Amino acid sequence: MNIAANPVVEADQTVYLKDYQKPSYLVDSIDLDIQVYDNKTDVHAKLVMQRQTEGDLVLLGRDLELQSIRVNGTELSKDEYHLDAEQLRIANAPDQAIVETHVVIHPESNTQLEGLYLAGDDLFVTQNEPEGFRKITFYPDRPDVLSVFTTRVEADKKLPVLLANGNLMEAGEAGAERHYAVWQDPTKKPSYLFACVIGDLAVLKDSYVTSEGRNVALEIYAEEKDIPKCHIAMEALKHSMRWDEEHYGRPYDLDNYMIVATSAFNMGAMENKGLNIFNTSCVLADEEYTTDAAIMRVQSVIAHEYFHNWTGNRITCRDWFQLCLKEGLTVFRDQSFSEDLQSAAVQRIDDVAVLKAHQFPEDSGPLSHPPRPDHFVEINNFYTATVYEKGAEINRMMATLLGKEKFRAGTDEYFKRYDGQAVTVEDWVAALTAGSGVDLSEFLIWYNQPGTPKLEAKGEYDAAAQTYTLSFKQSLKAHAKYPNLKAVPIPVALALFDAETGEQLTLNSEVLVENDVKDGVYLFDQDAASITFTDVAAQPVASLLRNFSAPVNLEFNYSDEDLAFLLQHETNGFNQWQAAQALLENIFLKDHNAQIYLDAVSSPKLLPQLVNTDPLLASRLLDVPSEGYLASRIDADYNPLAIQEKREALLNAVAQACKGFWKNIYQELNAPAEFSQAMGVRALKNIALSMMVRQGDESAFDLAYEKFKTTGNMSERLGALKVLVWNDAPQAEKALIDFYLRFKDEALSMDQWFMIQAAHPKANAETIAYLTSHPDYDLGVPNRIRSVSGGLNANPVNTWSFGVQHFIGLAQYLDEKNPIVGSRLLQALSRWYTLAEPQRSAVKAELEALKPQVKSKNVSETLNSMLSV
Ligand code: TRP
Ligand code: ZN
Repeated sequence: MNIAANPVVEADQTVYLKDYQKPSYLVDSIDLDIQVYDNKTDVHAKLVMQRQTEGDLVLLGRDLELQSIRVNGTELSKDEYHLDAEQLRIANAPDQAIVETHVVIHPESNTQLEGLYLAGDDLFVTQNEPEGFRKITFYPDRPDVLSVFTTRVEADKKLPVLLANGNLMEAGEAGAERHYAVWQDPTKKPSYLFACVIGDLAVLKDSYVTSEGRNVALEIYAEEKDIPKCHIAMEALKHSMRWDEEHYGRPYDLDNYMIVATSAFNMGAMENKGLNIFNTSCVLADEEYTTDAAIMRVQSVIAHEYFHNWTGNRITCRDWFQLCLKEGLTVFRDQSFSEDLQSAAVQRIDDVAVLKAHQFPEDSGPLSHPPRPDHFVEINNFYTATVYEKGAEINRMMATLLGKEKFRAGTDEYFKRYDGQAVTVEDWVAALTAGSGVDLSEFLIWYNQPGTPKLEAKGEYDAAAQTYTLSFKQSLKAHAKYPNLKAVPIPVALALFDAETGEQLTLNSEVLVENDVKDGVYLFDQDAASITFTDVAAQPVASLLRNFSAPVNLEFNYSDEDLAFLLQHETNGFNQWQAAQALLENIFLKDHNAQIYLDAVSSPKLLPQLVNTDPLLASRLLDVPSEGYLASRIDADYNPLAIQEKREALLNAVAQACKGFWKNIYQELNAPAEFSQAMGVRALKNIALSMMVRQGDESAFDLAYEKFKTTGNMSERLGALKVLVWNDAPQAEKALIDFYLRFKDEALSMDQWFMIQAAHPKANAETIAYLTSHPDYDLGVPNRIRSVSGGLNANPVNTWSFGVQHFIGLAQYLDEKNPIVGSRLLQALSRWYTLAEPQRSAVKAELEALKPQVKSKNVSETLNSMLSV
């Protein structure tokens, strides 16, 4: 029966981890022949298959026009196989089966950006993770089937670049107008890592010699005009290659490494073996066209995809439930790489800020799931902050506990055991345990449970005994789909400070973990426990969860004075920032008086010194949590306007408290040559400009406009433009027009132009209508959609008024055209249930009304979860 024709009997589409079964057939090799034409693409595939277990021979395929199928040379008639919308099934197939298929596909009309698709006028690219390969040909498209791929690509000569994974074996003409190339990838890989690229692109070339002496040709493909913007990515690539050799002992294994940039891409980038495909936003980096933050992101994503070569490609996932095996570990690795690129403290600040702004809210709401879920409907919905960022934190906790040497022994063991295999999270933890000699098995609990643990701590000083005791309790919010929650192992990095001198005390306690990391680390893995320090001469100030040693919500009875003390005396920038954030949360969420905070930031001992020695850290210490983050900390009766007003009032008070400080910074600080220092100065000066406006200093607009016109640096130009536009300065309109004319052919810069206008605090439905009907707005390009939607969502007051229609409309429009992106955008509304009435019921009604209209698994799974609170 054709399921699609009968929507009434909707089968339960949930897939369960517990149902995992080995594939009945493996594929020794696959020969692919992909012939691209303007109006169709022919795909011929030859699979050499071998039976592994009992069962039918199953090939997955979606939207494929089957022309013919042969098994061991004999064409099958229609009654010799079963074909439905998802798979082709052959009963009683021989144990050795050579399966040859010919299908026709339509990349030219593929709007989902999955499988093979047209990504602009002269470019065809693939995106096969997680389940895109089945849209190219019939195949056991699952990560535990590894095979050797040989690929022939053929196209018109007006598309000169023909790429696929591995080594170029052969190239030549295919008739007068057409040409072809044959590539072979010697390493066995799952189909999600297959890639090919057919198009008209320019290339930047370089090379690298590995620690083993292998000479690797490096190539970055992009549009001709963008080649000058590829140098930062190229340097980052070489740096990543060296870093993985030095820190993990992992050299590269092929003779070439290619990166292709496209502006039509659903996510950031993709680690296809030897042929990464990147969103232009994660490759192109240039001070004139992209911001400092974007430059940092390019370097980290280049590293991320490169690091996947070992953590993801050489060792891959057994099934998609194990996604965080490769993503959590690779994010941890790219974060560590970035900590070596700039100030480690600032990198940690930025990573924790992302975790708290995205993962914590996700984990406290209706979309909460474990880093390794045990069921899903649509795997694309699980490329989440929880899988990536919380997954990275689990690895960081184990690394913190082990210290550098033992962690390295553990990863060495992992690569030794599992190279060339498709494995599970259990395998990873087992290898770390065996290699390090430390039993880490209790960390598996973290992978299997949802929710951010609450860590309650209390400190008590006993003057007579000269002891200080910290007692801990942990708890998790109940979750309907994951009962039986257990206590998790929480490494608590901590320090005690002398309250008088500000000196850090030596910790005397027997229950601290011994590792080669200097910090005192206490491993708390019960429901409740305590630790006592001896020889403590006076009531100390404790600092807990240093460097954010575990992804938990800490509730410690710090006084505001303690936090202000830590802001001044903590020995590293991350811990100073953490203290400032805790103080700010007290002000916003517990109505504490702001004066202690204002005194601390305006103290001559803090910022005035730091702005010269570490301007980047100084800029971060001025962070005030976003309205969106504050909202995520409120579980009921949330009033967006009230939060906005409180936050504005505090920022105005900070502006006033520092009097002449801001203008001084703006006029006297100059960006030095060193990039991260310069980045810090630019960040500080942008803050200073907006503080001057808050002080009512009219000269700020002239200074901003002057900067806007004369700078060649995008962070400065955008900082100035924001100040003008968001404050409706007289120069705002001129500046927007000037920006448009200057950058209209630069998509990434134009994304910023759209974003700034959508993020205007007083944007309204007309603003969004103007932007989304602009000739340069394009619903086929996810980056452009995200720039407007992301800008709008920067102001929750707007998200929860006219934004509701915007996001619901997009989810509906993209439901079939691009369900991956549609499902993600809808998540902007996932905390609807926290709103105060009557807004809560109004948004709920709109979400309910969307429900009967959606067709994709992606959007409907998200919507069902969102409404299940
Ligand atoms: N594996 C990619 C990464 O994290 C993620 C990715 C890229 C992806 N494109 C995708 C996931 C499309 C789902 C769909 O590096
Ligand atoms: Zn990844």
